[in-house]
Amino acid sequence: MPGALTLKTELYHILMKGTFHIVGVGPGDPELITLKAVRVLRNCPVWLTPAAQKDGNSTALSIASGSVDPKDKTILNHHFPMKKIHMGKTPDPEVQKAWQEAARLINEQLEDGFDVALPTLGDPAIYCTGFYVYETLLQLNPETSIKVIPGISAIGATAAAANTPICLGDDRVAVIPAIFESDMIKDILQQFETVVFMKVYKAMDRMVPLLEELDLLDSAVLVERTSMKGERVHHDIGATVDMDLHYFSTLVVRKT
Ligand SMILES: C[S@@+](CC[C@H](N)C(=O)[O-])C[C@H]1O[C@@H](n2cnc3c(N)ncnc32)[C@H](O)[C@@H]1O
Repeated sequence: MPGALTLKTELYHILMKGTFHIVGVGPGDPELITLKAVRVLRNCPVWLTPAAQKDGNSTALSIASGSVDPKDKTILNHHFPMKKIHMGKTPDPEVQKAWQEAARLINEQLEDGFDVALPTLGDPAIYCTGFYVYETLLQLNPETSIKVIPGISAIGATAAAANTPICLGDDRVAVIPAIFESDMIKDILQQFETVVFMKVYKAMDRMVPLLEELDLLDSAVLVERTSMKGERVHHDIGATVDMDLHYFSTLVVRKT
């Protein structure tokens, strides 16, 4: 026979739906996670952790685990394929399927009254899978309660590692994924005082000649694994062409 407290807890879960939290956990250093993120992660009994590889580790999980012990959590490790997404165009079916499956898993837990956290690298507002899940979850259940907890983005952490500001005075900033045609990138570099390139790890063979042409090689700095073990700050940008850079690499070009 279940005790009165167990019945009360079960009733609570039946009546109260959980809340979904997208939690920015910062760029890697466990000291760069916010107090709020830690509190929310601590309070959520279920974590849906994004993994870039099938059955692979989740970087967001390992960062979150630096502050909150996940041993009592229900961990739903979920694979989100790394494929290009072009806004306004229908995403790859495999990608859509991953969002739908994540939304279904989260919704199931919320319906059972459990709060769910999706820890995500950096800040959720910047190129974050959490927001695709957000949309998909609302399509599944428009009444879903969702909260977004900001985090320290790799952008700020990269600038800090390189001891550079991103913008001062009336500087204008563009943040772009380095997937565009060289002509478009050149145009952006000419227009803005600062350009931050993310997802740049395989693009340096295109970036370096462009920077050279625009005489911007000395204005660029690339940081690999910012605030993580093995962080590397590259000022000699020309040399990065021959390097096997980590996916966690951000390039800042700032005209001074
Ligand atoms: C999908 S985006 C995620 C960005 C993240 N939401 C943020 O706010 O930092 C992945 C890209 O972020 C950058 N990035 C994330 N973590 C990084 C780190 N620790 N060091 C350098 N770049 C990082 C890299 O450019 C990487 O290709």
